[in-house]
Amino acid sequence: MAATNLTGLVRDYLFDQRTRQDMQMTERAAEALVPDLEHLSAENLNETLRDYSDSMNGRLMILDPDGKVQFDTFGSLCGRRLALEEVLQVLTAGNADAYGMYTPGRETAESMSGEEGAEYVAYCARELRAGGRLLGTVLFVSRIQKMMDSLNAVQWQLVTVFIVIALAALVLALILSQVLTKPITDLSRAMRKMGKGDLSVRAPVRGSGEMKELAEAYNTMAAQLESLDKTRNQFVSNASHELKTPLATMKIMLETMMYQPDMPRELQQEFMEDMNHEINRLTGIITDLLTLTRTDAKNQEMKKEPVDMSALTEEILHLLKPAAGKRNQSLTGEVESGLVLLGDQSKLHQILYNLTDNAIKYTPDRGRIHVSLRQEGDDVVWRVRDNGVGIPEEDQDHVFERFYRVDKARSRETGGTGLGLSIVRQLVTMHGGEVTVESVPGEGSEFTVRLPRKGA
Ligand SMILES: Nc1ncnc2c1ncn2[C@@H]1O[C@H](COP(=O)(O)OP(=O)(O)OP(=O)(O)O)[C@@H](O)[C@H]1O
Ligand SMILES: [Mg+2]
Repeated sequence: MAATNLTGLVRDYLFDQRTRQDMQMTERAAEALVPDLEHLSAENLNETLRDYSDSMNGRLMILDPDGKVQFDTFGSLCGRRLALEEVLQVLTAGNADAYGMYTPGRETAESMSGEEGAEYVAYCARELRAGGRLLGTVLFVSRIQKMMDSLNAVQWQLVTVFIVIALAALVLALILSQVLTKPITDLSRAMRKMGKGDLSVRAPVRGSGEMKELAEAYNTMAAQLESLDKTRNQFVSNASHELKTPLATMKIMLETMMYQPDMPRELQQEFMEDMNHEINRLTGIITDLLTLTRTDAKNQEMKKEPVDMSALTEEILHLLKPAAGKRNQSLTGEVESGLVLLGDQSKLHQILYNLTDNAIKYTPDRGRIHVSLRQEGDDVVWRVRDNGVGIPEEDQDHVFERFYRVDKARSRETGGTGLGLSIVRQLVTMHGGEVTVESVPGEGSEFTVRLPRKGA
């Protein structure tokens, strides 16, 4: 398309150029010939005509007003009438000149122009006028075959060049699209695999720019999903294990009672009390699990009302005094009065209850537990300090994880499941605060809860 347009332009330009050139030459020859026509002899005129035709590189004829050839540099058409379109335009239509290009067939073209192998020929006619009288016309037969040949050659060259360029562009486009789409196909392959459940697949990170960013973002997401999946599996297996243990204990006791009908009454009573204890434990675990999953859900409703933190703290201290008293522990408080916080009363209650309950559980008899409530800047801060067993450095990061217990055997004894602190952390986060621990094994621990007064 572009090639034909371009060759069209070239052809038009060359034709134009040639037409103008031929017409100028013919006009000049005609002007020079007018005076000669009247003065020179036929012989001399023929010679002058030949001189002109040589310099113009073509055939020159002079026709009388009837269209009859009077002079011809080839000599062959003398005396013949030539009814060419251009001649007629000058002699009858009254035009000063006329020009036309033709492909009249090889024979005619060759005989007219005298050019070997010619197929194209151009005629240029120019009036011969002296003092308003039309004396006849000059007819110039121009040899344009060479021009046409080179034009054809140029045309073919252009077409070839364009085909080569188009092919090269096509190949380049194919290669480029391969290079560009490769990361995308890689990524979608990874996504499909992940969709089928394989969370370990990662997309290859290559190149630069957006594609690289996309692959990295995808990989981060995949890693997060994978770890989420792992935690969930762990949670389910931990939970079922925790639930199985009390059930197994109860089953053993129940079977013993079933197959020993003559068991002493007191032993039976003791078994039933143990079973009741296990049922309480099961209920506790399930309540904790429900709390966790419920606070997990983001759309969970949290009340946001003014909570009297000072009163709440006193209330919990009062509630847990008996438990501490049973173990001869001193449970003391240092409560700043009148501290109010925007939050959920029952959730705040559970936070401090769990922490104080832990302090009592993990502090030996006659130990000291101290709870404080203070305002620090815009925060309300709880500190629960004990001089109990403490938490080893390497476990401090993990105690807030679900089912995590430092000393599995001991805390099973004390009835712990490892859910208390993970509930604490979730509830504190819901209130926009944070919980931290500082502890030295053998010396004691201090848990700090920092809550913004205006709520989350
Ligand atoms: N004050 C503390 N002193 C020493 N160790 C503690 C203290 N508080 C928590 N821990 C350790 O952190 C672990 C996790 O505590 P968390 O309250 O989550 O679980 P738990 O007390 O074992 O069980 P649950 O609270 O669910 O009944 C405990 O098992 C214990 O090993
Ligand atoms: Mg606990």
